[in-house]
Amino acid sequence: MLAVENEDATVLGSVGWHAVRHGPGDIAKALNIGITLLPEQRGRGYGTAAQEALAHYLFQTTLVERLEAETDVDNLAEQQALEKAGLPTRRSPPARSVPPRPMARPHPVQPTAG
Ligand SMILES: CC(C)(COP(=O)(O)OP(=O)(O)OC[C@H]1O[C@@H](n2cnc3c(N)ncnc32)[C@H](O)[C@@H]1OP(=O)(O)O)[C@@H](O)C(=O)NCCC(=O)NCCS
Repeated sequence: MLAVENEDATVLGSVGWHAVRHGPGDIAKALNIGITLLPEQRGRGYGTAAQEALAHYLFQTTLVERLEAETDVDNLAEQQALEKAGLPTRRSPPARSVPPRPMARPHPVQPTAG
């Protein structure tokens, strides 16, 4: 976790991150980032600037190749801040719009003779 400060060293909030998997294998790791600004400091561009700075910091100081963030569908401030910070946003469809799929369960394959 890091503090978010302005040019006067006033603390505005904090950012944090944790490792998540995004694929098979031990090296397929990403960092999931999060931010909280004090209520009176929101809507002034600090959220965009802080997440852009955090992305630069993490790419420069770690070997990670992917950053992720999650937020609520109605959190437009965070969605726009992420976009403006250079992190493209992708919406997951609501569960009810996912069409039913046939069940396919993996099971061990028996070796064939010969
Ligand atoms: C989400 C958060 C980090 C955004 O930071 P911020 O400093 O308030 O956002 P910015 O001022 O950088 O604004 C980014 C964009 O979102 C827009 N925006 C800001 N507040 C908004 C609101 N309440 N509704 C809609 N859009 C909003 C801004 O207009 C700006 O776009 P623009 O430059 O085109 O005008 C901050 O509001 C916050 O800490 N919220 C509470 C915690 C939170 O939601 N954390 C993230 C998800 S868990």
